[in-house]
Formats: sequence, structure tokens, C-alpha cells
Amino acid sequence: MSSSDEIRDLQRTAWAGLAAGWEKWDSVIMDQLGPVGAAIIDGLDIAADDRHLDIASGTGEPGLSIAKLLPQGHVVLTDLVAEMLDIATRRAAAQGIANIETMVCSADDLPFDDATFDSVSVRFGYMFFPDVARATAEFARVLKPGGRLCASVWVKPEENPWTAIAMRAIATEVAVAPPAQDAPTMFRCAAPGYISALYENAGLRDVAEWDVPVELVTESPAQYWQMISEHVSLAVAALRQVDEPTRERIRSHAMTNVSAFEQDGRVRVPGLARCVVGTKGSDDRGHCP
Ligand SMILES: C[S@@+](CC[C@H](N)C(=O)[O-])C[C@H]1O[C@@H](n2cnc3c(N)ncnc32)[C@H](O)[C@@H]1O
Repeated sequence: MSSSDEIRDLQRTAWAGLAAGWEKWDSVIMDQLGPVGAAIIDGLDIAADDRHLDIASGTGEPGLSIAKLLPQGHVVLTDLVAEMLDIATRRAAAQGIANIETMVCSADDLPFDDATFDSVSVRFGYMFFPDVARATAEFARVLKPGGRLCASVWVKPEENPWTAIAMRAIATEVAVAPPAQDAPTMFRCAAPGYISALYENAGLRDVAEWDVPVELVTESPAQYWQMISEHVSLAVAALRQVDEPTRERIRSHAMTNVSAFEQDGRVRVPGLARCVVGTKGSDDRGHCP
């Protein structure tokens, strides 16, 4: 089995296991990530009759928000994991959104013809793709000339205490090996210019990056820990390795540190994402990087 196949299999298993946590904490997660979805939508400059592709849609965002802006258009939500897209389908039904379809596929092997879509979005998916260059070439291939790609990734851990607090608490008890070079983890794409270089190598033009602040808001330190430990991939994987007393010490460590972010009866922990936009040249019918 190639390492790309292995990465896809591991990601499929991991995200199938995380789906219940994402559905349970849907409103908290969507409030936290909403500003990034809004920034992606701003970057895409979409029109009401666009055909849009959302990659690594998970539970549906930003694809569902984009579908609401396309009364004459259509959105295809794609993800490697059927369990995540099942949630997206339920969320679409609950919001009365009908102009969507879902498709299980990997970002680096898209089942669409060249020049099918007016725009492509990827919110917090890039870091998990086995081959980020091949995935970007696929996004460029399926875009129509003049179409835009906009993606978001996480900036470095120091700018993301909402997850760094949990990771530090886990590291007090679990020997977490540093990820291998370019391994699919949350901060893989954090270096400034990392995604821009992929876009430019895939032939996209007018590439620009900008940072978008987020805030994770929970009712209490206990709720912070519960939601992190039920939906963040690194945390879920690490906690699975330890016994209950160890989990309790990690929880207590995280709750103590996150309480520094309590204000107005809530816990408000900041984070920082980076959005990257690029355009397929209007004379570009296909690019072979
Ligand atoms: C952090 S979630 C993002 C979900 C959603 N876009 C959002 O922002 O709420 C990452 C998603 O990437 C998906 N994923 C992982 N590897 C993938 C691949 N090779 N191709 C497509 N999706 C993938 C996972 O299944 C998961 O749903």
C-alpha cells in the first residue's frame, strides 16, 4: 500500500470516529469557525448562479452557507468520509437547503470534468490531504477559467491557545512524538506562504493570504475540555492511549489553564486561521504542474 493510501485510510478511520463529536458540538464549532467561512465567501466573489465545489466539507461548511447565496446555483459538498457528509445532509435538511449534493471522494482525485466549477472552497481540509500539490492541481483543473479557489488553514499553535492548551495538558502525561515532516496534522500548513506556493505551482494567479481571528466560546472550563476531547483529532487520539486517572489529570491541567480565558461568565479562547485565495487565469484551460 502506498503512503498516500495509508494516509487516506488513517484519515478515513479517524474522521469517521470524530463524526459523532462534530455533530454533538455542532453549534459551538460552527460559531468558532464561522468567521473563517465568511472570509472564504468574501474571497470567492461568488454569483447567484455559480456552480460551487466545497472540498473536505465535513459537516457542511462553508458549502451550506454558500448554497444559501446561490438561488440559481448549485453546490457539491465532498469529503473522504461518508459519516461526516451524512451530518452535512442532515444539517442541510434542517436549514431547508435543497440546491446541494454530496459526494464521497478524496481531494487529490476528484471525479469531475475539467472546468466544471466557478469556485472551490476548502475550510480546514488541506492539512489532511495525502498529497497537497496533487490536490491543488485537481482544484485548478476542475475550476473554470477565471474561477477562484479559497482555502483556510491554521496558523501556528502559539496563535491558537484554544487547541494548544489541550495539547500542552496532554503532553504533561503522554509522550507525543513530533509529527514527521509533512505528516497530516493540524499545523502542517501553518508556515506563511505554504499554501500560496502550492497555488502558484498549480498555475493560479493573483494569490493572496490574510489572517482571520476566531474565538472558541464555551460555558465553562469543563465544557471546553469536554468538547475538545470529543472532536479534536489529536486530542481524541492521544486520550485513547491513557487510563482514566491519567485522563482526569490531563483534564484538570487543561481546565486550570483555560480558566485564564474566563470572562463574563464564559470561556473565550482565541485562535488564528489563514485564508488563501487564487484565481485560475481566464486563458487557462488546464495546467500541468
Ligand atoms: C477539520 S474538518 C473540516 C470540515 C469542514 N470543512 C469545516 O470547516 O467545518 C476536516 C475534514 O477533512 C476531511 N478529509 C480528510 N482527508 C481528506 C481527503 N483526502 N479528501 C477529502 N477530505 C478529507 C475529513 O473527513 C474532515 O471532514
